[in-house]
Amino acid sequence: MGTFSVLPRHIGIIMDGNGRWAKQRGLVRTEGHKQGAKVFRDIATYCSELGIEAVTFYAFSTENWRRPETEVDAIMDIFRDFLDELERRESENEEMGFRIRFIGDMSRLPADIVSLIRITEQRSADKRRTTVNVAVNYGGRQEIVHAARELAELAAAGKLQPDEITEELFARHTYTGDLPDPDVIIRPSGELRLSNFLTWQSAYSELWFSDVLWPDFTRADLDQVIHDFEKRNRRFGGV
Ligand code: FPP
Repeated sequence: MGTFSVLPRHIGIIMDGNGRWAKQRGLVRTEGHKQGAKVFRDIATYCSELGIEAVTFYAFSTENWRRPETEVDAIMDIFRDFLDELERRESENEEMGFRIRFIGDMSRLPADIVSLIRITEQRSADKRRTTVNVAVNYGGRQEIVHAARELAELAAAGKLQPDEITEELFARHTYTGDLPDPDVIIRPSGELRLSNFLTWQSAYSELWFSDVLWPDFTRADLDQVIHDFEKRNRRFGGV
């Protein structure tokens, strides 16, 4: 395990490059997602071993429904298998080291997955050291609209005055409202953009890009991210 002088409190990760990883090996794209899910579990576990407060993984965007139905179904199967396995381990008293939450609009997901999600969230709710957020049917703009609607409802009900809406209050109505903003956002696989991920929360995040494809991402890569983070001088607009 790496040793560090500063740890980011919150890390965001865009799990990209699964399809290309599979193609490189002459496999179908869904094999890339399966490997990506293994890496997700390992990196989530590593973050909890390091004692990082929060890590948010981008697993499925509001735009990903445009993929072929077979691929969407395969990704849903991967979520289902992951949740089933957590449930099985929990009943065998094998401790999962972190609290898990799903963020995004769950209403479009298959009902059995939604209920597995709720069970898993409740079971892990008291593990406070590390929170692992999985963003599913998530979009940063959609999240901002969701927060705006909640505030508008409060205002319409007479419970909130427009001038009481501050950045802090708005932030509390995002899906990560009780967590610090991400210090670093990691995007592997060579793309240099945020793709609607943590749009509100990323205002001051350090961005870390790399050509490694997500299924090849290792604990040593995360160590490198944290070492690079240690060296960056964060000024938040000051001098
Ligand atoms: C992007 O790579 C990846 C996805 C759209 C799916 C990510 C999902 C997982 C890794 C499964 C996560 C599992 C759990 C349990 C949270 P891409 O397919 O766009 O890759 P490409 O750009 O190379 O085609």
